[in-house]
Amino acid sequence: MKDRFGREITYLRMSVTELCNLRCRYCMPAEGICKRSHDEMLSQEETLLALRVAAELGVRKLRVTGGEPLVKPNILDICAGAAQIPGIEEICLTTNGILLPGLAKPLKQAGVSRLNISLDTLDERKYAWMTRVGALDMALKGIEAALDAGFEHTKLNAVLIGGWNDDEIRPLAELSLRWPVDVRFIELMPMTDKAAFGPEAFIPCSRVLQALPELVSVGRSDGVARMYRLPDAQGSIGLISPLSAHFCASCNRLRLLADGRVKPCLHSALEFPVKGLDYEGMRRQFLAACAAKPERHEELSYTQRSGANRSMNRIGG
Ligand code: GTP
Ligand code: 5AD
Ligand code: SF4
Repeated sequence: MKDRFGREITYLRMSVTELCNLRCRYCMPAEGICKRSHDEMLSQEETLLALRVAAELGVRKLRVTGGEPLVKPNILDICAGAAQIPGIEEICLTTNGILLPGLAKPLKQAGVSRLNISLDTLDERKYAWMTRVGALDMALKGIEAALDAGFEHTKLNAVLIGGWNDDEIRPLAELSLRWPVDVRFIELMPMTDKAAFGPEAFIPCSRVLQALPELVSVGRSDGVARMYRLPDAQGSIGLISPLSAHFCASCNRLRLLADGRVKPCLHSALEFPVKGLDYEGMRRQFLAACAAKPERHEELSYTQRSGANRSMNRIGG
């Protein structure tokens, strides 16, 4: 399926739950979240039906997100079901890593091909503060579990926050020396209320290039990331710059939210519900979402917030 601007849609980001075992300050609103009733959310059957529709329309890559996808009790069944759908070539999953020690191997057996794991700091106290309830040690054990289970091309996502973790750019990047992982720095997107971070928190990814002058460009991009490498590293360094250099022109994605809305753009409030529809009904909604996909999102900054109208845990990044 192609949108009005000639972009071929081949990537579906699917949020399977709004719930999470952490409470990251850039993702969850300060007041917390209210658990919604089962009836409002897509059932497993509806989820897999929507995936069949998306695959028939040309989606080849699926990324499972949340909230935290691993708190979903039937996550292995959803992944295994998705792996059976003709056309889906790759199933990736983005997680905070906390539950990977018990789930990394079963996820691999269920057909998940790749994991992205969030890790914003290597300081225990900072990790506890940012996640409000998490322990750094558990996230690190999760990364090791992913590597032990044989996952390759694992990516670590660090949201770059001025005055908070910009002094940790080097130790975070050097994880690509210690492990065969890509470390990606992501510019903080202004999703939640303004109270969470001041203007100084929104810093560009060019700060990473200043902190690591020995970085060498590898001359290609990987999805939304511009790629670099530290000398002798096992993995690459990626810079994801939604604020300083948005990548909308090459956007190839739609989102399917846990409550069954198809979302054409992360930063737009447009949503197309598929809950309760049959195959044909869902197909029409996917096509409508594709046709309505905006050319690009508005400029984002501390004062100019995302138009998404949802907090990140209800979108899935
Ligand atoms: P790969 O498949 O490994 O390339 O993963 P990915 O980068 O597509 O996914 P991931 O879940 O690791 O997301 C990394 C960061 O990119 C997160 O902060 C997302 O919020 C952000 N991101 C993902 N998709 C979009 C998008 O369509 N627009 C914008 N602005 N940011 C996005
Ligand atoms: N800005 C940038 N990235 C974010 N993520 C969550 N909220 C934000 C935000 N406001 C990241 C998570 C995860 C990915 C799916 O999105 O850290 O790695
Ligand atoms: Fe949970 Fe990820 Fe949001 Fe943190 S960023 S609260 S780990 S969904």
